[in-house]
Amino acid sequence: MRVLSGIQPSGIPHIGNYFGMMRPAVELQEAGEAFLFIADYHSLTTQPDPKYLREQVEGVAVDFLACGLNPEKTVFFRQSDVPQVTELTWILSSLMTVGVLERAHSYKDKIAKGFTPNAGLFTYPVLMASDILIYQSTLVPVGKDQKQHLEITRDLAIKFNNTYGDTFTIPESSIRENVAVVPGIDGQKMSKSYDNTIPIFAGKKATRKTIMSIVTDCKELEEAKDPKNCNVVALFKLFANETQLKAMKDNYCAGNYGYGHAKQELFDVMWEYFEPMRQRREELANNLDYVWDILNKGGERASAEAEKTMIKVRKTVGLR
Ligand code: ADP
Ligand code: TRP
Repeated sequence: MRVLSGIQPSGIPHIGNYFGMMRPAVELQEAGEAFLFIADYHSLTTQPDPKYLREQVEGVAVDFLACGLNPEKTVFFRQSDVPQVTELTWILSSLMTVGVLERAHSYKDKIAKGFTPNAGLFTYPVLMASDILIYQSTLVPVGKDQKQHLEITRDLAIKFNNTYGDTFTIPESSIRENVAVVPGIDGQKMSKSYDNTIPIFAGKKATRKTIMSIVTDCKELEEAKDPKNCNVVALFKLFANETQLKAMKDNYCAGNYGYGHAKQELFDVMWEYFEPMRQRREELANNLDYVWDILNKGGERASAEAEKTMIKVRKTVGLR
């Protein structure tokens, strides 16, 4: 089994990234060889500031390592250290129909949010398919927002294999249904691009302030509240044990329990949950040479692996 996933360095990793992808990927690294990368080519589609990009690559690397990525078990690298994926993207683009790309949800969402639809954003799923197929990946842990991209990848791999002969492993996605879409503080999907995140490792004051700004309805303190349709409960559920969750739901139904109380409880469980990782993060942030060394070595390994596939692909399609 080969596990593979990626995260864009387009902002600071948040608890949606953590529960949707980072934690599942960290757990899966025990089950087989894992490849995890920072998708810097992808983030160019929405993020054109070079200084910010470099800072975020480093920040994502530190956060992921702090959250349990083990470089002894996982090849951890920057996407752009393997430029062969852009070569494969071109080859796969010729098998991709424009109609499929036009129907991609993430592309449509980005446009709806006001991003200019550049060609990179449009062909984003082909680059993502290349990321997955070039390493002959079998299992791809992602959040639910990436489900369609995985379906596109599988279809493309099947089409390539049917056109040119068996070349690519057909990958499966791994989506944890209980955390499939973590809501942001505004109730939409939490995303680095939507300015609605709770970062994993912001400071205490900033984290509390963000949690206190989670959108709720306007019920008064005394009134009973609906735990089923509340962003605070949806986020609390990610950290709390069953007893804690039941107590919060009971408090909601009983009334005389305000959203401020619930938010404080959310802050407390979240702060405690990430405490050991916060300590590890501080050590890593003071040892950035170590972090870059991991990425550089990972890049060499990933590139060697990708080249094996590309030697086959170039020959298969008649380029060499
Ligand atoms: P973002 O949308 O914040 O830019 P990425 O696109 O880099 O995040 O996603 C990295 C991983 O985190 C992907 O597997 C994605 O599905 C997952 N992810 C992102 N946001 C969420 C969320 N709100 N809930 C669950 N998983 C998420
Ligand atoms: N598109 C993914 C996201 O935004 C990031 C990504 C790029 C990825 N390439 C990938 C995820 C390959 C899994 C596999 O979340």
